[in-house]
Amino acid sequence: KTNANVAVLGASGGIGQPLSLLMKLSPFVTRLSLYDIAHTPGVGADLSHISTKAQVKGFLGPEQLSDCLKGAEVVLIPAGVPRKPGMTRDDLFNTNASIVRDLVAACADVCPKAMLCIITNPVNSTVPIAAEVLKQKGVYDPNRVFGVTTLDSVRAVTFIAEAKELSVKSINLPIIGGHSGVTIIPLISQCTPAVSFPQEQRDKLTVRIQNAGTEVVEAKAGAGSATLSMAYAAAKFAESLIEAMGGADGKVECAYVQSDVTEATYFATPLLLGKNGIEKNLGIGNMIDYEKKLVDAAMPELKANIKKGEDFVNRSK
Ligand code: APR
Repeated sequence: KTNANVAVLGASGGIGQPLSLLMKLSPFVTRLSLYDIAHTPGVGADLSHISTKAQVKGFLGPEQLSDCLKGAEVVLIPAGVPRKPGMTRDDLFNTNASIVRDLVAACADVCPKAMLCIITNPVNSTVPIAAEVLKQKGVYDPNRVFGVTTLDSVRAVTFIAEAKELSVKSINLPIIGGHSGVTIIPLISQCTPAVSFPQEQRDKLTVRIQNAGTEVVEAKAGAGSATLSMAYAAAKFAESLIEAMGGADGKVECAYVQSDVTEATYFATPLLLGKNGIEKNLGIGNMIDYEKKLVDAAMPELKANIKKGEDFVNRSK
Protein backbone atom coordinates (compact mmCIF):
# COMPACT_ATOMS: atom_id res chain seq x y z
CA LYS A 1 0.00 0.00 0.00
CA THR A 2 1.51 3.28 -1.02
CA ASN A 3 -1.44 5.60 -0.48
CA ALA A 4 -2.17 5.50 3.24
CA ASN A 5 -4.07 8.24 5.00
CA VAL A 6 -2.38 8.72 8.39
CA ALA A 7 -3.27 10.98 11.31
CA VAL A 8 -0.94 11.84 14.19
CA LEU A 9 -2.64 13.07 17.39
CA GLY A 10 -0.21 14.97 19.60
CA ALA A 11 1.83 15.85 16.52
CA SER A 12 3.61 18.88 18.03
CA GLY A 13 5.28 16.98 20.86
CA GLY A 14 8.66 15.42 21.40
CA ILE A 15 7.49 12.17 19.79
CA GLY A 16 4.85 13.68 17.54
CA GLN A 17 7.20 15.91 15.53
CA PRO A 18 9.85 13.34 14.58
CA LEU A 19 7.11 10.73 14.05
CA SER A 20 5.34 13.13 11.69
CA LEU A 21 8.63 13.74 9.90
CA LEU A 22 9.18 10.00 9.45
CA MET A 23 5.63 9.61 8.13
CA LYS A 24 6.25 12.50 5.71
CA LEU A 25 9.34 10.62 4.49
CA SER A 26 7.48 7.30 4.20
CA PRO A 27 6.88 5.96 0.69
CA PHE A 28 3.57 4.51 1.95
CA VAL A 29 1.80 7.72 2.99
CA THR A 30 -0.12 10.11 0.74
CA ARG A 31 -2.05 12.09 3.32
CA LEU A 32 -0.71 13.14 6.69
CA SER A 33 -3.01 14.98 9.09
CA LEU A 34 -1.46 16.48 12.21
CA TYR A 35 -3.52 17.27 15.29
CA ASP A 36 -2.50 18.90 18.56
CA ILE A 37 -3.72 21.52 21.00
CA ALA A 38 -0.67 23.68 20.13
CA HIS A 39 1.66 24.52 17.22
CA THR A 40 0.21 22.25 14.51
CA PRO A 41 -0.19 25.01 11.92
CA GLY A 42 3.57 25.62 12.16
CA VAL A 43 4.63 21.98 12.28
CA GLY A 44 2.32 21.26 9.34
CA ALA A 45 3.61 24.18 7.26
CA ASP A 46 7.21 23.22 7.99
CA LEU A 47 6.78 19.55 7.00
CA SER A 48 4.66 20.46 3.98
CA HIS A 49 7.74 21.99 2.30
CA ILE A 50 9.55 18.64 2.17
CA SER A 51 9.53 17.29 -1.37
CA THR A 52 7.92 13.92 -0.71
CA LYS A 53 4.47 12.92 -1.85
CA ALA A 54 2.42 13.05 1.36
CA GLN A 55 0.07 16.02 1.57
CA VAL A 56 0.44 17.49 5.06
CA LYS A 57 -2.08 19.55 6.98
CA GLY A 58 -2.12 20.78 10.56
CA PHE A 59 -5.30 20.85 12.66
CA LEU A 60 -5.46 22.83 15.89
CA GLY A 61 -7.70 22.33 18.91
CA PRO A 62 -10.79 20.21 19.58
CA GLU A 63 -12.98 21.99 17.03
CA GLN A 64 -10.65 20.78 14.22
CA LEU A 65 -10.23 17.20 15.48
CA SER A 66 -13.05 15.73 13.38
CA ASP A 67 -11.68 17.28 10.20
CA CYS A 68 -8.25 15.86 11.02
CA LEU A 69 -9.64 12.34 11.39
CA LYS A 70 -11.81 12.31 8.27
CA GLY A 71 -10.75 9.37 6.10
CA ALA A 72 -7.89 8.35 8.41
CA GLU A 73 -6.88 4.71 7.99
CA VAL A 74 -4.10 4.69 10.58
CA VAL A 75 -4.15 6.92 13.67
CA LEU A 76 -0.96 7.29 15.70
CA ILE A 77 -1.52 8.69 19.21
CA PRO A 78 1.43 10.12 21.19
CA ALA A 79 -0.63 12.93 22.84
CA GLY A 80 -0.06 13.39 26.54
CA VAL A 81 2.52 14.29 29.16
CA PRO A 82 5.85 12.42 29.40
CA ARG A 83 7.72 11.10 32.46
CA LYS A 84 10.16 13.05 34.62
CA PRO A 85 12.88 11.43 36.75
CA GLY A 86 11.42 9.40 39.62
CA MET A 87 8.09 8.81 37.85
CA THR A 88 6.85 5.45 36.60
CA ARG A 89 4.72 5.22 33.48
CA ASP A 90 1.76 4.57 35.78
CA ASP A 91 2.28 7.99 37.40
CA LEU A 92 1.14 9.51 34.10
CA PHE A 93 -2.26 7.87 34.37
CA ASN A 94 -4.25 10.75 35.79
CA THR A 95 -3.40 13.18 33.00
CA ASN A 96 -3.11 10.86 30.06
CA ALA A 97 -6.15 8.63 30.67
CA SER A 98 -8.64 11.36 29.84
CA ILE A 99 -6.60 12.58 26.84
CA VAL A 100 -6.65 9.09 25.31
CA ARG A 101 -10.32 8.56 26.21
CA ASP A 102 -11.39 11.75 24.45
CA LEU A 103 -9.20 11.29 21.37
CA VAL A 104 -10.34 7.68 20.89
CA ALA A 105 -13.99 8.74 21.28
CA ALA A 106 -13.47 11.13 18.36
CA CYS A 107 -11.85 8.32 16.32
CA ALA A 108 -14.86 6.09 17.08
CA ASP A 109 -17.19 8.76 15.70
CA VAL A 110 -15.20 9.85 12.65
CA CYS A 111 -12.98 6.92 11.55
CA PRO A 112 -14.34 3.81 13.32
CA LYS A 113 -12.48 1.45 11.00
CA ALA A 114 -9.06 3.07 11.42
CA MET A 115 -6.14 1.19 12.95
CA LEU A 116 -5.43 2.85 16.32
CA CYS A 117 -1.83 2.81 17.46
CA ILE A 118 -1.55 4.03 21.05
CA ILE A 119 1.81 5.42 22.16
CA THR A 120 0.61 7.50 25.12
CA ASN A 121 1.72 5.96 28.42
CA PRO A 122 0.91 4.09 30.53
CA VAL A 123 0.29 1.87 27.49
CA ASN A 124 -0.66 -1.05 29.78
CA SER A 125 -3.72 1.01 30.78
CA THR A 126 -4.32 3.35 27.82
CA VAL A 127 -4.99 0.45 25.42
CA PRO A 128 -7.75 -0.96 27.67
CA ILE A 129 -9.08 2.62 27.93
CA ALA A 130 -9.25 2.83 24.13
CA ALA A 131 -10.97 -0.55 23.92
CA GLU A 132 -13.60 0.35 26.52
CA VAL A 133 -14.40 3.64 24.75
CA LEU A 134 -14.76 1.86 21.41
CA LYS A 135 -16.97 -0.81 23.02
CA GLN A 136 -19.23 1.87 24.47
CA LYS A 137 -19.51 3.38 21.00
CA GLY A 138 -20.24 -0.05 19.51
CA VAL A 139 -17.30 0.00 17.09
CA TYR A 140 -14.60 -2.01 18.90
CA ASP A 141 -12.57 -4.35 16.70
CA PRO A 142 -9.76 -5.92 18.79
CA ASN A 143 -7.77 -6.56 15.61
CA ARG A 144 -7.42 -2.82 15.02
CA VAL A 145 -6.23 -1.50 18.40
CA PHE A 146 -2.52 -1.67 19.23
CA GLY A 147 -0.31 -0.51 22.07
CA VAL A 148 2.96 0.33 20.37
CA THR A 149 5.73 -1.62 22.14
CA THR A 150 8.13 -1.71 19.20
CA LEU A 151 10.67 0.40 21.08
CA ASP A 152 11.24 -2.46 23.52
CA SER A 153 12.27 -4.73 20.62
CA VAL A 154 14.32 -1.98 18.99
CA ARG A 155 16.24 -1.47 22.24
CA ALA A 156 16.73 -5.19 22.88
CA VAL A 157 18.11 -5.72 19.39
CA THR A 158 20.53 -2.82 19.88
CA PHE A 159 21.74 -4.09 23.27
CA ILE A 160 22.17 -7.69 22.07
CA ALA A 161 23.99 -6.57 18.93
CA GLU A 162 26.37 -4.55 21.13
CA ALA A 163 26.95 -7.42 23.54
CA LYS A 164 27.54 -10.03 20.85
CA GLU A 165 29.16 -7.79 18.22
CA LEU A 166 26.49 -8.77 15.70
CA SER A 167 24.92 -6.64 13.01
CA VAL A 168 21.70 -5.07 14.32
CA LYS A 169 20.02 -5.91 11.03
CA SER A 170 20.48 -9.64 11.58
CA ILE A 171 18.78 -9.84 14.98
CA ASN A 172 15.17 -10.58 15.79
CA LEU A 173 13.61 -11.42 19.13
CA PRO A 174 10.12 -11.29 20.59
CA ILE A 175 9.31 -8.99 23.49
CA ILE A 176 6.08 -9.97 25.16
CA GLY A 177 3.91 -8.81 28.07
CA GLY A 178 3.36 -5.13 28.70
CA HIS A 179 5.24 -1.85 28.24
CA SER A 180 6.45 -0.96 31.71
CA GLY A 181 9.16 -2.28 34.04
CA VAL A 182 8.73 -5.94 34.99
CA THR A 183 5.87 -6.37 32.53
CA ILE A 184 8.39 -6.07 29.66
CA ILE A 185 9.54 -9.63 28.92
CA PRO A 186 12.33 -10.24 26.40
CA LEU A 187 12.37 -13.83 25.11
CA ILE A 188 16.12 -14.03 24.67
CA SER A 189 15.85 -17.83 24.24
CA GLN A 190 13.92 -17.18 21.00
CA CYS A 191 16.41 -14.69 19.58
CA THR A 192 17.51 -15.31 16.00
CA PRO A 193 20.36 -15.90 15.49
CA ALA A 194 20.49 -17.89 18.74
CA VAL A 195 22.53 -16.13 21.43
CA SER A 196 23.45 -17.29 24.89
CA PHE A 197 24.67 -15.42 27.93
CA PRO A 198 26.00 -16.47 31.31
CA GLN A 199 23.13 -16.16 33.80
CA GLU A 200 24.43 -12.99 35.43
CA GLN A 201 24.78 -11.25 32.08
CA ARG A 202 21.33 -12.43 30.98
CA ASP A 203 19.82 -11.00 34.20
CA LYS A 204 21.56 -7.69 33.61
CA LEU A 205 20.45 -7.56 30.01
CA THR A 206 16.85 -8.38 30.93
CA VAL A 207 16.78 -5.67 33.58
CA ARG A 208 18.39 -3.18 31.20
CA ILE A 209 15.73 -3.86 28.56
CA GLN A 210 12.99 -3.46 31.20
CA ASN A 211 14.45 -0.18 32.48
CA ALA A 212 15.76 1.29 29.22
CA GLY A 213 13.04 3.95 29.19
CA THR A 214 14.14 5.10 32.63
CA GLU A 215 17.75 5.33 31.39
CA VAL A 216 16.54 7.96 28.91
CA VAL A 217 14.30 9.74 31.44
CA GLU A 218 17.28 10.10 33.81
CA ALA A 219 19.67 11.23 31.08
CA LYS A 220 17.16 13.85 29.95
CA ALA A 221 17.07 15.09 33.58
CA GLY A 222 13.54 16.48 33.64
CA ALA A 223 13.13 17.24 29.94
CA GLY A 224 10.95 14.17 29.31
CA SER A 225 11.26 10.60 28.09
CA ALA A 226 12.35 8.86 24.90
CA THR A 227 11.15 10.78 21.86
CA LEU A 228 13.46 10.16 18.89
CA SER A 229 13.85 6.41 19.41
CA MET A 230 10.12 6.17 20.19
CA ALA A 231 9.29 7.99 16.97
CA TYR A 232 11.56 5.63 15.01
CA ALA A 233 9.91 2.60 16.61
CA ALA A 234 6.37 3.87 16.04
CA ALA A 235 7.16 4.65 12.40
CA LYS A 236 8.59 1.13 11.97
CA PHE A 237 5.38 -0.35 13.38
CA ALA A 238 3.15 1.94 11.29
CA GLU A 239 5.00 1.09 8.08
CA SER A 240 4.73 -2.67 8.72
CA LEU A 241 1.03 -2.24 9.40
CA ILE A 242 0.43 -0.14 6.28
CA GLU A 243 2.33 -2.61 4.10
CA ALA A 244 0.29 -5.49 5.57
CA MET A 245 -2.94 -3.53 4.99
CA GLY A 246 -1.93 -3.29 1.36
CA GLY A 247 -1.50 -7.05 1.08
CA ALA A 248 2.21 -7.56 1.82
CA ASP A 249 2.72 -11.03 3.28
CA GLY A 250 4.64 -12.02 6.36
CA LYS A 251 4.68 -8.71 8.25
CA VAL A 252 5.20 -9.58 11.92
CA GLU A 253 5.51 -7.08 14.77
CA CYS A 254 5.05 -7.39 18.51
CA ALA A 255 2.36 -5.15 19.98
CA TYR A 256 0.20 -4.95 23.10
CA VAL A 257 -3.30 -6.05 22.16
CA GLN A 258 -6.39 -7.75 23.52
CA SER A 259 -5.28 -11.33 24.05
CA ASP A 260 -6.22 -14.77 25.31
CA VAL A 261 -2.63 -16.04 25.25
CA THR A 262 -2.25 -15.63 29.04
CA GLU A 263 -4.66 -14.78 31.80
CA ALA A 264 -3.97 -11.06 31.30
CA THR A 265 -6.66 -9.81 28.93
CA TYR A 266 -4.16 -7.56 27.13
CA PHE A 267 -0.70 -8.88 26.33
CA ALA A 268 2.00 -8.20 23.75
CA THR A 269 3.10 -11.07 21.51
CA PRO A 270 4.30 -11.32 17.91
CA LEU A 271 1.39 -10.63 15.56
CA LEU A 272 1.01 -11.51 11.92
CA LEU A 273 -0.45 -8.35 10.39
CA GLY A 274 -2.85 -8.29 7.45
CA LYS A 275 -5.42 -6.20 5.57
CA ASN A 276 -7.66 -5.97 8.62
CA GLY A 277 -5.04 -5.51 11.31
CA ILE A 278 -4.15 -8.59 13.32
CA GLU A 279 -4.42 -11.59 11.03
CA LYS A 280 -3.08 -14.04 13.55
CA ASN A 281 -1.72 -13.80 17.07
CA LEU A 282 1.44 -15.90 16.91
CA GLY A 283 1.47 -16.43 20.68
CA ILE A 284 4.46 -17.08 22.88
CA GLY A 285 6.13 -20.24 21.61
CA ASN A 286 8.40 -22.26 23.88
CA MET A 287 9.72 -20.38 26.85
CA ILE A 288 12.50 -21.50 29.14
CA ASP A 289 11.75 -21.59 32.88
CA TYR A 290 13.53 -18.27 33.41
CA GLU A 291 11.11 -16.59 30.99
CA LYS A 292 8.05 -18.34 32.45
CA LYS A 293 9.01 -16.85 35.80
CA LEU A 294 9.23 -13.39 34.23
CA VAL A 295 5.69 -13.84 32.86
CA ASP A 296 4.42 -14.92 36.29
CA ALA A 297 6.14 -11.93 37.88
CA ALA A 298 4.49 -9.57 35.37
CA MET A 299 0.93 -10.77 35.89
CA PRO A 300 -0.14 -8.90 39.06
CA GLU A 301 1.06 -5.51 37.77
CA LEU A 302 -0.28 -6.08 34.28
CA LYS A 303 -3.71 -7.14 35.50
CA ALA A 304 -3.89 -4.17 37.88
CA ASN A 305 -2.91 -1.77 35.06
CA ILE A 306 -5.61 -3.24 32.80
CA LYS A 307 -8.28 -3.01 35.47
CA LYS A 308 -7.31 0.58 36.24
CA GLY A 309 -7.82 1.55 32.60
CA GLU A 310 -11.14 -0.28 32.26
CA ASP A 311 -12.44 1.12 35.56
CA PHE A 312 -11.49 4.66 34.50
CA VAL A 313 -13.75 4.54 31.47
CA ASN A 314 -16.58 2.65 33.09
CA ARG A 315 -16.58 4.96 36.12
CA SER A 316 -16.65 8.12 34.05
CA LYS A 317 -19.55 6.91 31.84
N1 APR B 1 -4.95 16.50 22.38
C1 APR B 1 -3.91 16.51 21.53
N2 APR B 1 -2.65 16.72 21.88
C2 APR B 1 -2.40 16.91 23.18
C3 APR B 1 -3.42 16.88 24.15
C4 APR B 1 -4.74 16.68 23.73
N3 APR B 1 -5.77 16.65 24.57
N4 APR B 1 -2.83 17.09 25.36
C5 APR B 1 -1.52 17.24 25.14
N5 APR B 1 -1.26 17.14 23.82
C6 APR B 1 0.01 17.28 23.12
C7 APR B 1 0.89 18.38 23.67
O1 APR B 1 0.46 19.65 23.23
C8 APR B 1 2.25 17.99 23.12
O2 APR B 1 2.48 18.57 21.83
O3 APR B 1 0.78 16.10 23.23
C9 APR B 1 2.13 16.46 22.96
C10 APR B 1 3.02 15.70 23.94
O4 APR B 1 4.34 16.02 23.68
P1 APR B 1 5.46 16.01 24.81
O5 APR B 1 4.96 16.74 26.00
O6 APR B 1 6.72 16.45 24.16
O7 APR B 1 5.53 14.44 25.22
P2 APR B 1 6.24 13.23 24.43
O8 APR B 1 7.63 13.06 24.91
O9 APR B 1 5.98 13.36 22.99
O10 APR B 1 5.41 11.98 25.03
C11 APR B 1 4.03 11.85 24.81
O11 APR B 1 4.04 9.43 24.67
O12 APR B 1 5.57 7.70 25.11
C12 APR B 1 4.55 8.50 25.58
O13 APR B 1 5.12 8.54 27.89
C13 APR B 1 4.99 9.33 26.74
O14 APR B 1 2.74 9.62 27.40
C14 APR B 1 3.85 10.28 26.82
C15 APR B 1 3.52 10.55 25.37
